[in-house]
Amino acid sequence: MAQALFFSLELSLSASSTFSICSSTPHFLSKNSTFNHLTLSFKPLKPPKHLHFHLKPISSHSNRWSLRGTTALVTGGTRGIGRAIVEELVGFGAKVHTCSRNETELSECLENWVGSGFEVTGSVCDVSVRAQRERLIGTLSSLFDNKLDILINNVGTNIRKPMVDFTAEELSTLLATNFESVFHLCQLAYPLLKASGAGRVVFTSSVSGFVSLKNMSVQGSTKGAINQLTRNLACEWAKDNIRCNAIAPWYIKTSMVEQVLSNKEYLEEVYSRTPLRRLGDPTEVSSLVAFLCLPASSYITGQIICVDGGMSVNGFYPRHD
Ligand SMILES: NC(=O)c1ccc[n+]([C@@H]2O[C@H](COP(=O)([O-])OP(=O)(O)OC[C@H]3O[C@@H](n4cnc5c(N)ncnc54)[C@H](OP(=O)(O)O)[C@@H]3O)[C@@H](O)[C@H]2O)c1
Ligand SMILES: *[C@@H]1O[C@H](CO)[C@@H](O)[C@H](O)[C@H]1NC(C)=O
Ligand SMILES: *[C@@H]1O[C@H](CO)[C@@H](O)[C@H](O)[C@H]1NC(C)=O
Ligand SMILES: *[C@@H]1O[C@H](CO)[C@@H](O)[C@H](O)[C@H]1NC(C)=O
Repeated sequence: MAQALFFSLELSLSASSTFSICSSTPHFLSKNSTFNHLTLSFKPLKPPKHLHFHLKPISSHSNRWSLRGTTALVTGGTRGIGRAIVEELVGFGAKVHTCSRNETELSECLENWVGSGFEVTGSVCDVSVRAQRERLIGTLSSLFDNKLDILINNVGTNIRKPMVDFTAEELSTLLATNFESVFHLCQLAYPLLKASGAGRVVFTSSVSGFVSLKNMSVQGSTKGAINQLTRNLACEWAKDNIRCNAIAPWYIKTSMVEQVLSNKEYLEEVYSRTPLRRLGDPTEVSSLVAFLCLPASSYITGQIICVDGGMSVNGFYPRHD
């Protein structure tokens, strides 16, 4: 024990170039003469080899900010945030596979992407159905040679109503689409992510997973569950060098929220609650997702990052003062 502590003192002192002895003895040493002695007799030592942390040359800028040579699965990539993520990842050089339920829409998207020279493939899959998830990951395994670098769990839906009005079916739909799908896709993708050697998972949470939003107690609960899954998997899969993070948006201009925001008065209230006084664009979310996938974010795991124009930190700013 004494040796371990002494060693850690050496580490911190040799790591600092401007060391000076504090006039007040640190609390944990104050009643221990052995340690006082050890502290004062400190001599600068040559740090062990593994401490040359700042001497490593910074790897090239283009490698840290590129996804060239990587593979990704983005669920729900035909509209909204998912579509922006597909295009963002391709822009950074990733090969992307996506899925959605509407075959017509998926085909149109794939045609557009391939026409623009994007490396995107897709398959029809309802991620709320277990057998379809299994088929999707099967397709992915053969497509990407049993290896996946990036999993983006984007699909999510919403049913807005007071909690007591939820039917059993509505509750099941939200749990299956927003949480069970994500949970099971992670299980299925695990061997592929492990094979990557540097897997990354990005979950799509929401500010509703942090604060209460009207009629969203069930959707908010599924996002709260995603937040905790993000933290748990970040720790559980760290041994496999798989990083897990989540993004938590507030209102983003997509088909999902088109209807509720078509109400002018409601929209005004949204603006007044949002410090930046506007809605977000899907590309303002996809940029964060890309960052969380890039080697540049290689020490970030277990985080849930809001993309919300400041909404979640807005306390009280009276409009009449
Ligand atoms: N927009 C916002 O303001 C906002 C705010 C906070 C969080 N979010 C979250 O962001 C994520 C994306 O939202 P969005 O606004 O971009 O949604 P969106 O515009 O409704 O797009 C959803 C996409 O997912 C697909 N999809 C939906 N259900 C699916 C299923 N069961 N299986 C497979 N694909 C499915 C849709 O295609 P098909 O319909 O053809 O399947 C579409 O491509 C969701 O998790 C949502 O909770 C959004
Ligand atoms: C000082 O710390 C050492 C190591 O923890 C311990 O064995 C020893 O009993 C302590 N001495 C006093 C006076 O607290
Ligand atoms: C599927 O997408 C097409 C093209 O956007 C649309 O016309 C059709 O209504 C959609 N089908 C369903 C079941 O949503
Ligand atoms: C909440 O749900 C009630 C009942 O379904 C509905 O009348 C109201 O417009 C909803 N409000 C919001 C903000 O979703």
